[in-house]
Amino acid sequence: MPNMQPNDLRSRQWFNNPENREMTALYLERYLNYGLTREELQSNKPIIAIAQTGSDLSPCNRHHIELAKRVRDGIIAAGGVPLEMPVHPIQETGKRPTASLDRNLAYLGLVETLYGYPVDGVVLTIGCDKTTPALLMAAATVNIPAIALSVGPMLNGWWDGERAGSGTVIWKAREKLASGEIDEDGFMEIAAASAPSVGYCNTMGTATTMNSLAEGLGMQLPGSAAIPAPYRERGQISYETGKRIVEMVWEDLRPSDIMTREAFENAIVINSAIGGSTNAPIHLNAIARHLGVPLSNDDWQSVGHDVPLLVNLQPAGKYLGEDFHRAGGVPAVVSALLGDGLLPHPDLVTANGKTIGENCALRPSTNDDVILPIAAPLKEAAGFINLKGNLFDSAIMKTSVISPAFRKSYLSNPDDLNAFEGRAVVFDGPEDYHHRIDDPSEKIDENSILVMRGAGPKGYPGGAEVVNMRAPAYLLKAGVEALPCIGDGRQSGTSGSPSILNAAPEAPDNGGLAVLQTGDTIRIDLNEFSANILISEDEYASRREALIAAGGFAVPESQTPWQQYFRELVEPFDKGMTLRGADNYKDVARK
Ligand code: FES
Ligand code: MG
Repeated sequence: MPNMQPNDLRSRQWFNNPENREMTALYLERYLNYGLTREELQSNKPIIAIAQTGSDLSPCNRHHIELAKRVRDGIIAAGGVPLEMPVHPIQETGKRPTASLDRNLAYLGLVETLYGYPVDGVVLTIGCDKTTPALLMAAATVNIPAIALSVGPMLNGWWDGERAGSGTVIWKAREKLASGEIDEDGFMEIAAASAPSVGYCNTMGTATTMNSLAEGLGMQLPGSAAIPAPYRERGQISYETGKRIVEMVWEDLRPSDIMTREAFENAIVINSAIGGSTNAPIHLNAIARHLGVPLSNDDWQSVGHDVPLLVNLQPAGKYLGEDFHRAGGVPAVVSALLGDGLLPHPDLVTANGKTIGENCALRPSTNDDVILPIAAPLKEAAGFINLKGNLFDSAIMKTSVISPAFRKSYLSNPDDLNAFEGRAVVFDGPEDYHHRIDDPSEKIDENSILVMRGAGPKGYPGGAEVVNMRAPAYLLKAGVEALPCIGDGRQSGTSGSPSILNAAPEAPDNGGLAVLQTGDTIRIDLNEFSANILISEDEYASRREALIAAGGFAVPESQTPWQQYFRELVEPFDKGMTLRGADNYKDVARK
């Protein structure tokens, strides 16, 4: 039984408002002018926006232009009227200085569009990294019925008889290039091989992570996140998604009904089980903020850290997106978690009107090598920890990627495998790193800890994915695979480096990273979740005073108005990198 009566549809205020026939005529005539009929706009059909993120500038999401046709068919079949609308493009690999600068811009634009136009429900076309959080954040703020549709990952890439995963293969190839094993053409060939079709990154990078979590939160139809972009099921689920959003409007099923605190806890557990990106806490914390749901990096540690890694996808494992779909995708992961009682809240409603438990209980993994059973996971305790200390108040680390070799070379005490010390080598931004990393006079050795600062939301507006720094070429040639990295920037979800990321406060806020100097000793203690510079409190205070007296940690000039506004308004990573004050606006569609 519908909860919503036709006269309650917000689009009636535009298209059928008996109290203001003049305005109704004005609104109507222009929406009729390309061929819509009065019957469509005035006979109580829900108006459904298709928030289109695909364009020639956004190749990862470009296939949504095709899929939108099936979404329209589904909307019409269920008695709705589709209106497709553009979303500000966010292409992870194409936007400078970084795509994440534009997450909040696309968010603002979509909030304004959904609020200001005759829209009763919305299909969120998600995919490439930042498109998913941007659209879910907007849906959270506006709070009209919304359903997400993933564009799907690319087909598996292959190179030299092996799966070549997006991003991951580039991090490997750049090491081969640096050590002279391949030349420039070889490098490009490998890169292109990893991108064989339409769709988003086929690794468990930020895109697969965020699309999986959109399903885990309950905002997508079950099983839909993992379907590869070119598969027939992708078109079919697009049709089903279009049909379903019309029903959701009549049921008045809103983002705030689905994305509850409990749903975020489920998503955190799912993130650990899939081996999700370190970008996920930033984005989920942001979505939660816009709903008024409390969520912090401490929750990521307490809810997610002990959950095992079940999904054997690159960069942590060996498979790619097609394999994940064939093995059962997100429902199979949830099914495994349910079986072991690890999913904290199975009874939460999802976009299809059923609970996540009902949707997934009978959908076990069909390939135990791709989605492993809980009894034999790829890794134990695959979630994040939240480190604190005089270096920062909060930074995320995935402890499951720390190799035994890494532990050995940094041990401060051979009896304690969880405490490391190393000599800091500090870089001020990615350009500085590129200039100095291979310079032998920097004396970077296998006991160094590489630190990247000036790469956070303000320092490099939006936060650069640059913390996963490679070791100097001379160390790589000598067989040292990776050095630990710390930074106030982010790391690509496609990288498996042992890094401490998303540090807040960032250097321009004059926190611990800003007073750190090359040659300082850093101590990381995983027993107490701390990271500290080993200097006296007096020394720390006098360095900080000197820094502030000198005008603070310098950031480069903004190149565009948006960069300036972003820097003035942005909150730190642990608060989701949201815009200050935006979280004061809730349920705006009802206003
Ligand atoms: Fe768009 Fe990876 S670059 S999904
Ligand atoms: Mg990325």
